[in-house]
Amino acid sequence: SIERTLVLIKPDGVRRGLIGEIISRFERKGLKIKALKMLWLTRDKAEEFYSVHRGKPFFESLIEFMTSGPIIAMVLEGDMAISVVRKMIGPTDGREAPPGTIRGDYSLSKSQNVVHASDSPESAVREIGVIFKDDEIIDW
Ligand code: CMP
Repeated sequence: SIERTLVLIKPDGVRRGLIGEIISRFERKGLKIKALKMLWLTRDKAEEFYSVHRGKPFFESLIEFMTSGPIIAMVLEGDMAISVVRKMIGPTDGREAPPGTIRGDYSLSKSQNVVHASDSPESAVREIGVIFKDDEIIDW
């Protein structure tokens, strides 16, 4: 079924000049870009976005990292988009992510892992709502 998912290119991905490369992979796969922007997360927004991780040992460093520079946010749509995109980005730890996945090809870290993608339909709806206003999502 047709799903929407939220993808972020994290500050390390933007800093390293990987924006085009990453967007290109999703386009070539056939996912439809319904929204796209660059933004710099505030601490409040970053904490809201990652609220499920509040209290975990890596939470503070995650927030520091995610607010350390601009990010790219996009809404991607397609058949089974949530699981398809999760497979394309690979597991959290870039050191263990298989080659061919985005993290496997571009990250050697569990925290600075280049991209984020929603892990369920519920997170997708919530995360899209945290980052985008309704009128920023284009009907095409
Ligand atoms: P992401 O998929 O965006 O979800 C939570 C993020 O926390 C994760 O990617 C990593 O960037 C970061 N992180 C840092 N340390 C850990 C850890 N030990 N386990 C999971 N996520 C971590």
